[in-house]
Amino acid sequence: MGPPKIKLYVVTNNIKKGEEAIKILESLGVDAEIALVEKKEIQSEKLEEIALHAARTAYLVLKKPLAVDDSGLFIEALNGFPGPYSNYAYKTIGVKGILKLMEGVSTRKACFKTALAVIIPPLEKVYIGEVCGTITTEPRGTSGFGFDPIFTPEGETRTFAEMSLEEKNKISHRAKAYKLMVKDLRETWKTIL
Ligand code: IMP
Repeated sequence: MGPPKIKLYVVTNNIKKGEEAIKILESLGVDAEIALVEKKEIQSEKLEEIALHAARTAYLVLKKPLAVDDSGLFIEALNGFPGPYSNYAYKTIGVKGILKLMEGVSTRKACFKTALAVIIPPLEKVYIGEVCGTITTEPRGTSGFGFDPIFTPEGETRTFAEMSLEEKNKISHRAKAYKLMVKDLRETWKTIL
């Protein structure tokens, strides 16, 4: 028998996001659990900085191997808005407000980006995942969360909110970041995940 597997704690304030992450990690064979520790969000233009700061503050409390993701929707026609301010934009203007800003706009390209910070002492790293697509003209679908009803990934006709969690997890920004993380931790850092 080798050394025991590391259990990874997923720190989030958003239960839907946590469940999504746990499913992704399960599919990769990683033992993971949602940690009910507050995710402290600093204001920054860089998702990487926001995620790393949240991970470090959560580690001070939890003191266990953990991962924190900070994500955002970057809309080309809005010069990248809401990007790192996606949480605030979602809570204030919401899906409807974004669609209003996009009224009459023909360039509808947008990308979801995740910065995933992981701390497994002494290791501290940030992984990036991205998926691009288009902003719809009206919300469609009821699954997922946040801006899922107005985002159609490239090569698809359905929005994320019209897909099952398994389907979203095959192509999402979050899934890409977690897959990169698990591969790197196992292959480069010989972490027992
Ligand atoms: P957070 O700061 O990483 O929690 O996410 C910022 C905001 O982006 C959230 O409030 C969501 O509205 C949105 N968001 C993040 N990830 C996703 C996703 O996978 N689908 C849809 N919206 C998302």
